[in-house]
Amino acid sequence: MADDTAVGYENILVEVSAPIATITLNRPKVLNALSPDLIREVNEALGELDADSNVRAVVLTGGARVFAAGADISDMADRTAVDQLQRDQTGRWAGIAAFSKPLIAAVNGYALGGGCELALMCDLIIAGDSARLGQPEINLGIIPGAGGTQRWPRTAGKHAAMEVMLLGAPVTARRAYELGLVNKVVPAEMTITAAQRIARQAAEKAPLAARMAKEAVLKAFETPLAEGLAVERKSFYFLFSTEDQKEGMHAFLEKRRGVFKGK
Ligand code: HXC
Repeated sequence: MADDTAVGYENILVEVSAPIATITLNRPKVLNALSPDLIREVNEALGELDADSNVRAVVLTGGARVFAAGADISDMADRTAVDQLQRDQTGRWAGIAAFSKPLIAAVNGYALGGGCELALMCDLIIAGDSARLGQPEINLGIIPGAGGTQRWPRTAGKHAAMEVMLLGAPVTARRAYELGLVNKVVPAEMTITAAQRIARQAAEKAPLAARMAKEAVLKAFETPLAEGLAVERKSFYFLFSTEDQKEGMHAFLEKRRGVFKGK
């Protein structure tokens, strides 16, 4: 994708300003409700950005007012279990969690249901002070379906997870920060620029090391310690085959800043 290009999607905006890109969910009339088409577009955009070596970090936002009020209830209301199984509604989200570069959520306003789950799939979350994160599915007679029941307790612990799942009430940005769900709370008007600043910082780092670090940290949620340590060790050794490792270490010794090529 070329610099500063708004690529033609219907439900999202994609702006590339190398070395970062920003994806903005764009269904404002329904508070960015996550229709299947929107999720497909986010997947496609992330796939393109993953393949674009000029892009080294991505911000995912819903804009100034709302992150996303969840999966599209009007699309789900009359579906049967068989419909849901056959179209594998939440299977489509796997590509988002598999994105290999630093992915930073910039959350203003509501991040509810699938909206919260989408934020939790990102690597860092920057929240505006207006943000409200929660899993209100219980109010609809369902449970989270895109990772909420698993990612909340792994990050915020069992009791906070039970509180949001069982009572259906969201937590404030401040409480989310205290629970370790978000990295930083900023005034709402600063959220996107703060996330873009962090994305630019991440984009300066060695891309292959970032990829391996991300993979290894995510493994910690899925494997026993010994297996996770083995993944880390192999990735650590592998990175000594990269030009970026030579550049990073020699730059340090020469008292200059390393310039990384992702090679
Ligand atoms: C479809 C939605 C929607 C949603 C809001 N809208 N959320 N449409 N799906 N998830 C629509 C409203 O119907 C309304 O349309 C417009 O957006 C504005 O919303 P209001 O309710 O009028 O706004 P407000 O009073 O400010 O209340 C905001 C809100 C509320 C608290 C966020 O909209 C709300 O509770 N939304 C539902 C949140 C939710 O239950 N999310 C979980 C969904 S299930 P009109 O046409 O009336 O203007 C889920 C499961 C995920 O996410 C599973 C994995 C895929």
